[in-house]
Amino acid sequence: MSVSDSGSATYSEALEGSNAKRGLWSSRLAFILAATGSAVGLGNIWKFPYITGENGGGAFVLVYLLCIAAVGLPIMMAEVLIGRRGGHSPVQSLRLIAERDRLKPAWRMVGAVGVLAGFLILSFYSVIGGWAVSYVGTAASGQLVGQSAEAVGAIFSNLLGDPLTLLLWHTVFMALVMFVVAKGVRAGLERAVSILMPGLFVLLLIAVGYAMTSGEFGRAVSFLFQPDFSKLSTSGILVALGHAFFTLSLGMAVMMAYGSYLPKNVSIAKTSMAVSVIDTGVALLAGLAIFPIVFANGLEPGAGPGLIFQTLPLAFGQMPMGSLFGTLFFVLLIFAAWTSGISLLEPIVEWLEERKGMNRTASTLGAGVVCWALGIASILSLNLWSDFAPLGSIAMFEGKTIFDLLDFFTANILLPLGGLLVAVFAGWVMSREAVEKELALSGPMFRLWYLTIRYFTPVAVAAVFIYNLM
Ligand code: TRP
Repeated sequence: MSVSDSGSATYSEALEGSNAKRGLWSSRLAFILAATGSAVGLGNIWKFPYITGENGGGAFVLVYLLCIAAVGLPIMMAEVLIGRRGGHSPVQSLRLIAERDRLKPAWRMVGAVGVLAGFLILSFYSVIGGWAVSYVGTAASGQLVGQSAEAVGAIFSNLLGDPLTLLLWHTVFMALVMFVVAKGVRAGLERAVSILMPGLFVLLLIAVGYAMTSGEFGRAVSFLFQPDFSKLSTSGILVALGHAFFTLSLGMAVMMAYGSYLPKNVSIAKTSMAVSVIDTGVALLAGLAIFPIVFANGLEPGAGPGLIFQTLPLAFGQMPMGSLFGTLFFVLLIFAAWTSGISLLEPIVEWLEERKGMNRTASTLGAGVVCWALGIASILSLNLWSDFAPLGSIAMFEGKTIFDLLDFFTANILLPLGGLLVAVFAGWVMSREAVEKELALSGPMFRLWYLTIRYFTPVAVAAVFIYNLM
């Protein structure tokens, strides 16, 4: 019996029964694996370096780190605690907890925002995942060995200029994601990732080692860590805030869904902290691997979305055993993107199952195919439609392609909006006792978090929004 159609089940009955029925994560580690699997992905390795380059480096990185610590981490804790408290799928959990407090189930909107965001993000995420798939072949075939920066750049522009090849790899990536979601075999993949993720970490370390010895490491370190606020625009602040949500997989109720499986005796604060630290570490390592190569080869830090595909292949082409390391790196990148892609599709599929009564295979096929089709618009933005800016008449969107708009609208509008709703829910809608019990923090730590989630987070997100819209 599902709680939604059981008029008679009381809130506490529903809560008591829920976790037992759904099974719990075997341990705190299993939750951390799933949550890091979702968090660590293209956002860390592909997006973080290129937006850092576009937004001038140090000052942007500092604001980004502040957003992770002061906005992202508290919201992640809020998502996990709502999920664990509710013990059901996000929409159900919000309804259950809110109903007890006699509040309108308007909080379904969080679920709707999440489903829409997942849809739009996955459509272009899969296209970039496809780039990674394509580069496995490029690296394995030895094409990168001893290449110049120009030659490596040309390999990338050739890929972008070829819609059919992009479509092929986008299709492969989407099929990988759909396969796992349809079969519901995520657990197996997550176990595999417990080996592969450290592997990715090691390969990033190797790339950083190469960059230290052969690149302009000192310049890269000062670019990344010496803030120059004259280079940071207000839109850069919005991008940093949006990326904090994107990289931690927040604002879409994903962490809420995972939290519903977390055993009661596990500290939400510590586990959220662990996930945030790993996620940030991977992003910073990617930056340290890429920027020394950018500076050593006279490349442009603000080169845009192609940045890692124009720099890391150069390093792999020059280091000993580079074809092997390069191939491994892109394979591991695919795995990182794969687990993230799954966490984007899964909520949509669950939503279709719950709301529309469709079975898993049909929901996955339906949602996946529509997402895939939408991805074609992003593919064309890279070549045939590269001059097409649908909202170009609005100053803020000048020159933005469909791909740019999807990225902007999801990371900078939808996810922060979802996060804002979560903060308001945890800070104002839930009872303080419930929240306090769930977090089980010491007095001062709890008060710090509570003040942050009630006042600081909503005000900060709203302020950045309003400032940018004006
Ligand atoms: N965090 C992932 C990355 O950095 C992307 C992602 C996966 C995501 N699931 C999400 C972003 C849910 C927002 C919400 O690549």
